[in-house]
Amino acid sequence: MKVLVTGGIGYIGSHTVYELIKAKHDVVIVDNFSNSKKETLEKLKNLVGQDLSFYEGDVCDKAFLEKVFQEEKIDVVIHFAGFKAVGESVEKPLLYYQNNLESTLTLLEVMGKHNCKNLIFSSSATVYGSPEHLPIKEDFPLSTTNPYGTTKLMIEKILKDLYQSDSSWNITILRYFNPIGNEESGTLGEDPKGIPNNLMPYIVRVATGELEILSVFGDDYDTKDGTGVRDYIHVVDLARGHVLAAEKLSGLSIYNLGTGHGYSVLDLVKTFEKVNNVKVPYKITDRRPGDIAMCYADVTKAKEELSFEAEKTLEDMCRDSYTYIKNCKKQG
Ligand code: NAD
Ligand code: UFG
Repeated sequence: MKVLVTGGIGYIGSHTVYELIKAKHDVVIVDNFSNSKKETLEKLKNLVGQDLSFYEGDVCDKAFLEKVFQEEKIDVVIHFAGFKAVGESVEKPLLYYQNNLESTLTLLEVMGKHNCKNLIFSSSATVYGSPEHLPIKEDFPLSTTNPYGTTKLMIEKILKDLYQSDSSWNITILRYFNPIGNEESGTLGEDPKGIPNNLMPYIVRVATGELEILSVFGDDYDTKDGTGVRDYIHVVDLARGHVLAAEKLSGLSIYNLGTGHGYSVLDLVKTFEKVNNVKVPYKITDRRPGDIAMCYADVTKAKEELSFEAEKTLEDMCRDSYTYIKNCKKQG
């Protein structure tokens, strides 16, 4: 199978390229490096031990995409390209609506024209808003609290409408919970620019001494230790989920990709300290506006229909996240 991976140099995309190649699929990558580095492409080539078919360009650029589809006979598209920072989306909503919606609409138009109607789309647990019950099932009510989340919900709706109008499409929407970690050699990983917003990248920077102390946003939630609970999933498991989904595309389907387990902020801090033998100083601060107490997936559907089950542990996630940053530091 020849798979086009948009955003394939990004954090989840690059791991998915690696898993696709391990599963003996052909891969074509498109990325405009708006949130990734050219050196990651070189690292990825070294990791997979082969050259990669790569096109630098913007998925919003129809003429560019046309060229890719003319040159490559694509069977399936996995669409990761998009912006993902919740806070930035509140400050720059138009940028988020423009990039996330326009890239998807352009991609769908060009795919349809070239009769490639097999798509996997990166959605997010953010579309569940503040869930009333846990664990979260795919048929729970949907709502969003920020422009980033709204782009995901709008795209989900567009995809459902498209399928309704033409059932020869095969579309799988994957709603990720909290991806962390990286492949175990520490070649690929996540190293956000500036001060990280998400928990694991922040913990890692405190562990390396780049940041002084972690702020734990609230210890008065109704959870086992009062801190927020999330379903952290190792990015390698998540990437494997995409391979299974690509191999089983049929009709319109939606799956949660998580582990089904909830871990608190302090679980993460303590596990990170233990497996890496480092200190992560922290202080309790106010809650972060917009945060929910708990969020974890019901993973039954992905298990039954995709045979997908996360295999990696929280220890693996914490160890691998640190390996990558230590490697980056060694290389300067
Ligand atoms: P990322 O920013 O690391 O990767 C996205 C890649 O897409 C980057 O390499 C960027 O350069 C590229 N890109 C962005 N806009 C583009 C465009 N118009 N044309 C070409 N390339 C473009 O993000 P990620 O963490 O790998 O996330 C991938 C997808 O998964 C995103 O759609 C994101 O919204 C979604 N998602 C991520 C998370 C998460 O926590 N990381 C959770 C849920 C959903
Ligand atoms: N947290 C801290 N201190 C920090 C950062 C986070 O205590 O410095 C806490 C948060 O309050 C929360 C937990 O750590 O309880 C996880 O926070 P993240 O920011 O890492 O992740 P979120 O669950 O808030 O959101 C992430 C992505 C969203 C995505 C969602 C579900 O940022 O885009 O996961 O996939 F929608």
